[in-house]
Amino acid sequence: MRFFIDTANLDEIKEAKDFGILDGVTTNPSLMAKEGITGTDNVMKHYKAICELTDGDVSAEVISTDFEGIIREGQILADLAPNIVVKVPMIRDGVKAISWFTENDIRTNCTLVFSAGQAILAAKAGATYLSPFIGRIDDTSWDGIELIHQIAEIYAIQSFDTEILAASIRNSKHIVDAAESGADVVTCPLKAILGLLYHPLTDIGLAKFLADHKKANEKA
Ligand code: E4P
Repeated sequence: MRFFIDTANLDEIKEAKDFGILDGVTTNPSLMAKEGITGTDNVMKHYKAICELTDGDVSAEVISTDFEGIIREGQILADLAPNIVVKVPMIRDGVKAISWFTENDIRTNCTLVFSAGQAILAAKAGATYLSPFIGRIDDTSWDGIELIHQIAEIYAIQSFDTEILAASIRNSKHIVDAAESGADVVTCPLKAILGLLYHPLTDIGLAKFLADHKKANEKA
C-alpha cells in the first residue's frame, strides 16, 4: 500500500519525504485555502512547488463543475508536471470529463466518493484513482472502511484497473483498517502516519535494553 500525504503544506510534505515513506501528495481546494494560497497564478506555482518535492503522484483538484470547464482546467493542471493527477468530483460532468481525460491519456483521481455505485461509474470512466472519503462517512455514523471492503471486492471481481485511494483519513487506525480492507493507497495527514509509530511496549522495551546495556558496560 502506498502512502500519500493529504496536505498543501510544503513543510509537512518535506517532513514526510524526510521520514522516507512518501509516495505522493493529495490536495483539495480547502487544503490550498488553509495554506493561504489564492489566485490562479499562485495556485499553479504552489502545485509546481509540490511537484518539485516529490516524484510521486500529486492530485490537483479542478474547481469547475461543467464539462468544458473541467477539461480546460484539467489540461492546464496536467501540463504543469508529469506527476500531476487531475482530481475531478463525482458529478455527472465529472464522470464525462474523466472519460475524456482517459481517452486523452490524462490521469485522474475521482473525488468525493461515498458509495459503491459511484465507484463503479468512476472505474467505467477509466479513473486512475478513486477517493472514497472514509472519515466523512464515519462522521455520519456509517462505516467508511466497510465501503473500502465493498469497492475492493467489486473491483477484483470485475477486474477494474482503478486504484482505491482511501481518503479523509482521520487517524492511524483508519490507515491500518484501509490496508486490511484492500486500499491500494491511503492519503493521510502526517499526524496519522506518525501515530503508527507509537506503542508503549516499544518505549518500555527500548528503555530496558538501553538500561541493561549501560549497567553491563559500567561493570566491565
Ligand atoms: C483527499 O483527497 C481528500 O480531499 C481529503 O482526504 C478529505 O479529507 P477531510 O474529510 O478530512 O477533509
